[in-house]
This record gives sequence, structure tokens and C-alpha cells, in this order.
Amino acid sequence: MFFDTHCHLNDKKLINNIDDILTRSRQKGVAFFVIVGWDIKSSKDAIKIAQKHEGVYAAVGIHPSDVKKANKGDLEKLKMLLSEPKVVAVGEIGLDFYWDKDIGVQKKQEEWFIKQIQIANEAKLPIIVHMREATQKTYEVLKTNIPKLGGVMHCYSGSAEMVMSFVELGLYISLGGPVTFLNAKEPKKVALIVPKDKLLIETDSPYLAPHPHRGKLNTSEFLPLIAKEIATLRNETINSIGKTTTENAKKLFHVKQ
Ligand code: NI
Repeated sequence: MFFDTHCHLNDKKLINNIDDILTRSRQKGVAFFVIVGWDIKSSKDAIKIAQKHEGVYAAVGIHPSDVKKANKGDLEKLKMLLSEPKVVAVGEIGLDFYWDKDIGVQKKQEEWFIKQIQIANEAKLPIIVHMREATQKTYEVLKTNIPKLGGVMHCYSGSAEMVMSFVELGLYISLGGPVTFLNAKEPKKVALIVPKDKLLIETDSPYLAPHPHRGKLNTSEFLPLIAKEIATLRNETINSIGKTTTENAKKLFHVKQ
């Protein structure tokens, strides 16, 4: 059994095929899903979808690449969504210095990252962190603004050297499609280092389809390919990776069944 801890069934590429995607994914053993928002609209969509489907949960938040167009009212709107049934996390939030090189925008990203960690702490929810080309700054923010209910470094793309620093802050490390890419050295190293009780898996669909589907539309049905690669790297069985990462995700997101 598998738990896709990060997918975007609320994305326009997937939203019209949800029943079909869920059916095919369940046939492959993927039983749990967290749909992640990136702004207010997509967060509301994530909740709507989660409330209609068994085993499907929602995370709500403003993505670092979307804070440019965010305003104060959005934070209030976000707070209102946190008490909705099936909301299990605040995310995705964080820092993305790949897409935004402007110092002013990076500063705004940092402010919104901190504000959203604070509302997660107030609402007693974990966070889902997006980090791209901002490892040091993300680490500093998290170290000085500890997410009290924990969180996950989604599709971790930092170095193998840094990964244990995030684990020591109490965070889970989630791996996605890049771990399967033939030329991916760093994610494969990371897959070996992360302690078993801190490991999660995800598709980040519709993006980052795993090998051999790289470049194509991604859905949760490909999650077992990611588990299989991690199992091979760690010399474990795919069932053992599935079982542990599902247990870890249930613990982080407080999912009972
Ligand atoms: Ni995402």
C-alpha cells in the first residue's frame, strides 16, 4: 500500500479526470493522497476534491512563486480554510529562488513562509515545504521558526550533506520522480541517507513523472515506480518501503484509517 503525500489533482491537467486517476492509482495500491494547494483558489479546490473522495486529504497554502500576487486578505482566507474537514497540512509553502531572482520578491517569499508557519502552529497542523535553490535560507527560516507539528521537505532537492540537518529539525524527507531519473546522483544519495522513520514518497503530479515516463503527464498511479527505485537503492522490498512510508505519512498528517 502506498501514500502519495504530494499531488495536484486540483491542477487543470488532472482535475477533469479525478475519478479515473483515483481508480487506476488504487488498482496499483495507492490508497492515500494529499492534494496540495498553491494559492487560495487551488487550496479551495483541493478541499472540495478531498471531501468527495475516500482516502483523499487536502493541504492549503500559498506557494513561494505565488506570493507576488498575494495580499493580506489571503492570509485571513487561508486561516478560514484550516478548520475545514480533511485539511491535514499547511502547504505548499517555502522559498523558490530558482524562479525569483529579485531580492524584494525573495524577501516577500520569506515573510509569507514565516507567516504561514505561524498559522500552521496556531492551527496545530504540520507544514509542506517547497524549497528550490534556497537550501541555506530555508534551513535558517525553519530553525528560527520551528513548525511545532512537524512537516515535510517535499520533493527534496537539496544536497545529501544538508539532508540530516532538516531531519534534525524534526522534518520528514519526501522523494519523488527525480530519484528515478537515470542521471540523478544526488536524490539517489539522499534516498540512502534518510532514516527509515523519516522517509516519505510523492508524485508531485502532474509534474516530474518518474522514469520511464519522464517528460509525460504524471499521475499518482506512477507512485510505485518511485517506491521501487528507493527499495532497490536501499536493498529493501517495495512492500517494506510502501508500508513504512505509509505509516510515516499517516503519523505526520494524523490520518487514522
Ligand atoms: Ni507541488
